[in-house]
This record gives sequence, C-alpha cells and structure tokens, in this order.
Amino acid sequence: MSNSKMFAQLLPSLRLVPKRSASPIARHVRCYAKPSVAPLPASPARLVQSPMRRSPWSTSLQTRTFSASAAVSHGHVDPPTPGEELYVTFIDKEGAEHKLAVSKGDNLLDIAQAHDLEMEGACGGSCACSTCHVIVLDQEYYDKMPEPDDDENDMLDLAFGLQETSRLGCQIVMTPELDGLRVKLPAMTRNLQSSDFK
Ligand code: FES
Repeated sequence: MSNSKMFAQLLPSLRLVPKRSASPIARHVRCYAKPSVAPLPASPARLVQSPMRRSPWSTSLQTRTFSASAAVSHGHVDPPTPGEELYVTFIDKEGAEHKLAVSKGDNLLDIAQAHDLEMEGACGGSCACSTCHVIVLDQEYYDKMPEPDDDENDMLDLAFGLQETSRLGCQIVMTPELDGLRVKLPAMTRNLQSSDFK
C-alpha cells in the first residue's frame, strides 16, 4: 500500500482524537474544577449512621443503642466461711442492736446494706459523701483502725453529729483485729450530693 493510501485511511480516526487545550496550566485547572467521580446517590442504607458518627445536623433516620450491661449492685457480701466469722454490731437509730457474722475484707457500708440497715451510701463507697457516717462505740477499736486519710476527714467534716470516734462506714474494712466491733448509726445524715443543693 502506498503512503498516500495509508494516510487517507488513517485520517478519519485521527480526527476523533480530542483537541488539547492551549496550555498545560489550563488543563491542570480543569482537572481540579471538575470532580472525576460523581457523588453516590443518597439511599436509605447510606443515610443510617452509627451512633458514634451522628451529626447534629443530620436529618436522616438513625438508630440509637443503649447499654444492656448488668447494673452494679451495692451491698453484696458473701456469707462468711464457717469457723472464720468476724462479728460486728450495728446499733440503729431506734437503739436496736444487730449483731452480724461477716467475712474478712467486707466494709461496713456493704455489710449494712446487705442486711437492710439504714445506711444510704450515696456515693457508692467512693469517699465522696458522708451518708455512711458511723460512730465507733469503743475507743479501743477506733485505735486499731488505720487513720482516716484526707478525703475521709474532708467528708467527715460535713457529717451530721460528728464525734471523736466518727468514721465513714465505707472506709472501714473488717479484719480479725476488728472482730467484735460495735458502731452506732447517727440519728441522721447529711447528703451533700443531692438534698443540700436543691
Ligand atoms: S458511701 Fe459515700 S463516703 Fe461512704
């Protein structure tokens, strides 16, 4: 085939090649001006977001989840092992005595709540209220206890009817040295977490 015939056959296809812009800069700008990928169409499946990614401006249908974990129970104590019981006596607001057999390591808040004695424990034993206030009746036992730390002393300062041997029940852990402990529940407690700020 001659060169002129070949050129004549190729000419139509050469015309289909798009015309290039005048300058490389113009091509570059056009490249950024036009999105190369079209946005995906909105569909109900794409609009449902997980709770972690929710936007306050979103108007789409959304699902919420909530925790189904077990609530933390307070006041749970295990019965003492036979032969290893320790004894603590609570004297309630009416003057009634409750002598209880407990295990080493239990604290007075958990013991009182497990036996339905009136001890609120508003902060759950985190030393942030004074509603577990007790008065240790025997100085001998009071002296056997570890000294109250600064947090406990701060809360005790807020306790109603504070006495020399006052302690927070949630901070007193039963040990063999405290076997036979006797404590009195005060006539009332002061809950600074709720009622005093209403
Ligand atoms: S329960 Fe709050 S300080 Fe003991």
